Parts: sequence; C-alpha cells; structure tokens
Amino acid sequence: MRFGWTGGIFTIAMGTLAFGAAMSAHAAGDAQQGEQKFYTCLGCHGIEGYRNAYPDYDVPRLRHQHAAALVAALKEYRTGERPHSTMHAQASSLSDQDLADIAAYLQGPDPVKPTPPTGAAPAMVATCAACHGENGLGVDAPLEPKPPILAGQHADYLEQALAAYRNGRRKNAVMSAMAKGIASDADLKKLAEYYAGQHSPLVTATVGSR
Ligand code: HEC
Ligand code: HEC
Repeated sequence: MRFGWTGGIFTIAMGTLAFGAAMSAHAAGDAQQGEQKFYTCLGCHGIEGYRNAYPDYDVPRLRHQHAAALVAALKEYRTGERPHSTMHAQASSLSDQDLADIAAYLQGPDPVKPTPPTGAAPAMVATCAACHGENGLGVDAPLEPKPPILAGQHADYLEQALAAYRNGRRKNAVMSAMAKGIASDADLKKLAEYYAGQHSPLVTATVGSR
C-alpha cells in the first residue's frame, strides 16, 4: 500500500486506534429484545428510500451493519460528537443495554462474508483500505473503534458523512484526520460512490428483516 498523499495524517489516525486486546467489555446484546426496541426507529430506518430533510440525503441502511459500529455511532449521537437532533434525542432516550440489544438485532446472526472489490478504486482507497478494506467490508484486525461497513451504504449518506468529518461537524478523531486529507469535493464524492457500489450485506432494516 502507498500512503504518499497523507502519510502523516494516516499515522495520527492509526495512533488513535487501539487493538482489540485492550477493548473494553461491551454489554452483550439480546437480539429479541432489540427487535422490540427498534420499533420506534422503523418510521425512518425501516422504510426503503426514506430520506432526511434539510439537507436531503438517504437515511443510512442499518441491517447487517457491525454491532460494535452501531453502538459506537449511537453513543456519538448521544454525546453530540455526531450532530443530528433526531438521532441525538433517540440515542439519549436509550440505555447502554438498549443500544447493545438493538445492535445485536440489526447485525443478525450471520458473519459478513468477504467479497472481492469491484470497479476502479480511486487512488485514495489505498489509505481507507487499512481500516475499511478495499471492498468496504472492513479488515480482519480487531480495530477499536470498529469501522462501519461502507459497502452498499447509500452514496449520498457516505458523502454527507465524509463532508461532516472534514468540516468538523462530526468529531470522530480517526475520521476527521482521514477526511481532512481528501482534497476536493469531487474526490470525496468519488470515494463515497466507490464504496457504495461494493458488494454488500447491508439492507434497509424493514419490519421482520433478518
Ligand atoms: C426521524 C428519523 C429517524 C429516526 C426516528 C431514527 N433515525 Fe437513526 N438516523 C436518521 C438519520 C437521518 C441518520 C443519519 C444522521 C447523520 O447524518 O449522521 C441516522 C443515523 C443512524 C445511525 C448511524 C448509522 C451509520 O451508518 O453510522 C444509527 C446506528 C441509527 N441512526 C440508529 C437508529 C435507532 C436505533 C433508532 C431508534 C431508536 C433511530 N436511528 C431512529 C434518522 C432517524
Ligand atoms: C484508521 C482507520 C480508518 C481509516 C484509515 C479510514 N477510516 Fe473511515 N472510519 C473509521 C472509523 C473508526 C469510523 C467510525 C467513526 C465514527 O464513529 O463516526 C469510520 C467511519 C467512516 C464513514 C462513516 C460511515 C457511516 O456509516 O457513518 C465513512 C463514510 C468513512 N469512514 C470513509 C472513509 C474513507 C473514504 C477513508 C479513506 C479516505 C477512510 N474512511 C479511512 C476508520 C477509518
């Protein structure tokens, strides 16, 4: 792999990651409880093609996302490290046990099977791949925080997420450093489209989906 465009930034980003051995004990989730607790989320996340308003973009797909990544994201909405007023209210009304249950339900029982990357990767993917894989499904190393699956996510959601890391609205230290290394809006859009176009287990978490 080559990290020419952003070697320094990459080192900083990797420095803020810990490996799994040092991982804090996470609450074990109960998927059956999680299914019931997810009921209030269906109005947005359970509807194919549902969109956020102002700004307009697709609500993210959650079914088969890594449980650890879902919990990490929800905690960031709770603390405000990710800004979104509805998601802040939703995450603040849930206990850590609720988050673990919902995440266990959404991830489901099947492990994600690796698939080969598809399409021409923009040069910067060489850097992203250290954590997200070239196929957007992640890497074997037990990284903490757990990087989310990007493959098959809505391109416009990935694009707005990257823009939010880059302009400081999302405060995650790892991704802020990475996104600041993306030179232009056009490069940012290409990365979002590349990862959205990869083979993926991610789908909309409609009622009863498994
Ligand atoms: C009013 C619509 C709405 C409701 C209700 C809602 N969400 Fe969300 N959710 C969103 C939007 C929009 C985003 C993307 C926010 C952003 O840009 O960061 C989001 C983001 C997320 C993410 C981050 C996904 C990722 O890939 O990082 C998770 C996890 C999530 N929601 C879980 C839930 C859960 C669990 C509930 C119910 C307790 C819920 N949401 C209720 C609209 C909603
Ligand atoms: C050092 C590891 C690492 C590298 C390298 C990395 N990421 Fe990430 N990425 C993460 C982590 C961890 C998160 C979760 C951050 C959070 O909680 O908001 C994440 C989140 C994201 C998200 C938000 C997804 C969602 O569902 O909200 C996008 C988009 C993303 N990364 C794209 C990229 C791109 C494009 C690159 C290359 C330019 C890249 N990442 C490089 C670790 C990494």
